[in-house]
Amino acid sequence: MLKLGIIGTHIITDQMLDAAKTTGKYQLTAVYSRTLDRAKEFGEPYGATEFYDNLEKFFSAGDFDVVYVASPNSLHYQQVRLAIENDKFIIVEKPAFVNPAEFSAIESLLAAHPKARLVEAARHIHTPLYERAVAKVAEMKEHHCQGGTITVMKYSSRYDKVLAGDQPYPNIFTLDFAGGALMDLGVYAVYGAVTLFGEPSTVVYYPTLAKTGVDAKGVAILNYDHFTVTLNFGKTANSYLPSEVYGLKDTLVFDSIFETQKVTYYDADKQAHPLEAPVAKNSMTDEMNDFADLFNHPDDPAQVKKYQHWLGLARTVNSVMYSLRQSADLTFPADNDQE
Ligand SMILES: NC(=O)c1ccc[n+]([C@@H]2O[C@H](COP(=O)([O-])OP(=O)(O)OC[C@H]3O[C@@H](n4cnc5c(N)ncnc54)[C@H](OP(=O)(O)O)[C@@H]3O)[C@@H](O)[C@H]2O)c1
Repeated sequence: MLKLGIIGTHIITDQMLDAAKTTGKYQLTAVYSRTLDRAKEFGEPYGATEFYDNLEKFFSAGDFDVVYVASPNSLHYQQVRLAIENDKFIIVEKPAFVNPAEFSAIESLLAAHPKARLVEAARHIHTPLYERAVAKVAEMKEHHCQGGTITVMKYSSRYDKVLAGDQPYPNIFTLDFAGGALMDLGVYAVYGAVTLFGEPSTVVYYPTLAKTGVDAKGVAILNYDHFTVTLNFGKTANSYLPSEVYGLKDTLVFDSIFETQKVTYYDADKQAHPLEAPVAKNSMTDEMNDFADLFNHPDDPAQVKKYQHWLGLARTVNSVMYSLRQSADLTFPADNDQE
């Protein structure tokens, strides 16, 4: 049983703990929160026995193997640094880091701490259905592929506060916490493009800004050698569009690129062929299973191979996200910390 510590006590941590329980491979032991009261309130119902409001002490004294980091984006870097220095296995929520300078500093630190492992919680790429879809796109690419369109757009109830001028604004709508549509939902679209088509040669992002300075929604074009991929994402509107990959006369349709429950292949005769694969009730279960296999067998060659693959994907996604921001002149205070 892997002993689990957590940073961040919001809804996504509840979902992760539900998935962790389903795997039967983790037990929550330690909770860090900004206040001890909150750490206890959140952690006790899950059976946690250690509570901290001091991050250094959480890492040096806490009895856990794995730490799950689900704090605002701009805090991941310093928190993950501490975790690596304490030789932990780390699951960091997406987007793992704000820019390539942070990513590269983390990789150097990982090299100096060979017992530590770091994975980004890009949950959708770990599901059997998504893996089947990746294989189907690989087949389509062998014949004729003309790119795709990926949409991830959902109105955030937190935007109500921005509209109302109710300050302080939610973290995810602030530059200080490296928020905005690209960082929050766009990252799923970028993961989609990178896992299905690889690294684009050039990218451009056309954002619509919120009054807080972050991107509220936007459209990105990713250019590949023989096609383009359009990303359409946002937090201030609802979209009901599916995502699609275009062959010649055939098309692959995802109901959602990150909550993927249904993927349908339409052949040249417009006949629908649903891809068959089991879909877990909690969409974080497959990633938590995959991560447990890695953490339980960190030096097994098959696990090392998967780990390198996930880290490579995370690095590419981080780099594409940064290029998209650069193309739109979108900067965060965290970018300056690295210069
Ligand atoms: N994979 C997914 O589907 C998914 C879904 C949602 C979010 N996420 C990711 O999870 C991370 C957290 O997102 P979220 O929406 O939960 O963020 P959030 O509500 O803004 O904050 C998460 C936690 O961080 C702590 N926190 C909040 N404000 C803070 C501050 N000013 N300084 C220090 N700590 C603060 C709080 O924990 P305490 O009060 O206990 O300190 C809070 O519960 C993000 O990276 C996000 O992208 C992933």
